[in-house]
Amino acid sequence: MSVQFSDQAMQEVKRIINFYPEGKQKSAVIPVLHLAQQEFGGWLSVETMDCVASILNLKPIEVYEVATFYSMYYLKPVGKYIFEVCQTGPCMLNGSDDIIKYIYEKLGIKPGGTTADGMFTLKTVECLGACGYAPIMQLGKNYREHLTKEKVDAIIEECRRSQAQNN
Ligand code: FES
Repeated sequence: MSVQFSDQAMQEVKRIINFYPEGKQKSAVIPVLHLAQQEFGGWLSVETMDCVASILNLKPIEVYEVATFYSMYYLKPVGKYIFEVCQTGPCMLNGSDDIIKYIYEKLGIKPGGTTADGMFTLKTVECLGACGYAPIMQLGKNYREHLTKEKVDAIIEECRRSQAQNN
């Protein structure tokens, strides 16, 4: 099954491609993959990556290489709220393992897992470049710093409230 960008998203794809010199459309792959992820349900299926490859006139493997390298691309369906908990040294020394375990106890999901209601995904990532605020997680475009179990509880509640307001 093939996928297709909406007209509006396609205009944005063209705008992104135009940032780069003629014949260098490969440079647009990262922002176009971001757009594709937004456009097609928050993750990148093979069909979606193939669509991006076709638009940018690349071999599919050139798109897969990028999409599988960066942790910000999701290759399977994810929850609405993605807890990306850093597990690199400084965060680990400051309790990230306990935070990951607590999220597991609270939501019943291991790293890579998504709750049955499709609300939350737990993911472990490498250094987020904010070690001074360890332990830390990324949630959407924001960092949540100096995590504690109480802070995790508050974040989960905040997500649930936000979801309820949007329904
Ligand atoms: Fe976690 Fe750097 S080790 S932000």
